[in-house]
Amino acid sequence: MKKLTIGSIQKCKGVRKLVMITAYDALFARLLSESSDILLVGDSLNMSFGGNSDTLSSTMDQMIYHTQAVCKGAPETFVITDMPFGTYCDEKTALENAIRVYRETPSDAVKIEGGADKAHLVRHLTSNGIAVCGHIGLLPQAFRAEGGYKVKGKTEHEALQLISDAQAIQEAGAFILVIEGVKADVATRVAQSVSIPVIGIGAGNGVDGQVLVFSDMLGLYEPFVPKFVKQYLNGAAIVKEAAKTYADEVENGEFPNENYIY
Ligand code: KIV
Repeated sequence: MKKLTIGSIQKCKGVRKLVMITAYDALFARLLSESSDILLVGDSLNMSFGGNSDTLSSTMDQMIYHTQAVCKGAPETFVITDMPFGTYCDEKTALENAIRVYRETPSDAVKIEGGADKAHLVRHLTSNGIAVCGHIGLLPQAFRAEGGYKVKGKTEHEALQLISDAQAIQEAGAFILVIEGVKADVATRVAQSVSIPVIGIGAGNGVDGQVLVFSDMLGLYEPFVPKFVKQYLNGAAIVKEAAKTYADEVENGEFPNENYIY
């Protein structure tokens, strides 16, 4: 599949749904890229890869290391890099860190969380030549401040806030938007209110595409399975079964047999 550009991604709106999957390493990037329009190096890697209970301790160095690996594994796929918590708290910091992503990796764009309150940051990045993906609705980086993961769009007030957040982010120059953990009917209204593609996660089917965390989608992440996650593979059970068979064969001397020796 030919690598998409910002222009070709935007032309998909209303024509076909976009497929985004997270990836953290070259191995899975290669495997997932065949079926993805966009690979997202999400700071969710801090949980499933790094073993932490939230995304907040993720660092710029970590995101750059994982983005380099993903880009090596999937050089023909459009890649977006998440900006971690605390790396875009003001315009100067945001631009310095986004420039690091562009200088130190071949990533195509960065993603920052937040609505109208973050529009000035999106504008500062886009006006300095950085392509930006917005992220509104449930914001994992606000986990501690909000006291948990809160589904958004439950009231008309919240719905109108989400629509104005999406419009502000679009107006500031973002080329695409992720909407997470939002009532499906409200996410549909948000997608209809802007001309950039809106990619949903836990936001129903009325948006312009979907993103899932790969380790959730493959059933590899066991600590917590959100309601919106469909597991397309029973990955944890398959991996454990394979490791158990290997361990049994090592213990009973069955592996390596004559097929696996020099
Ligand atoms: O970090 C991540 O993987 C994300 C997705 C949940 C959209 O931001």
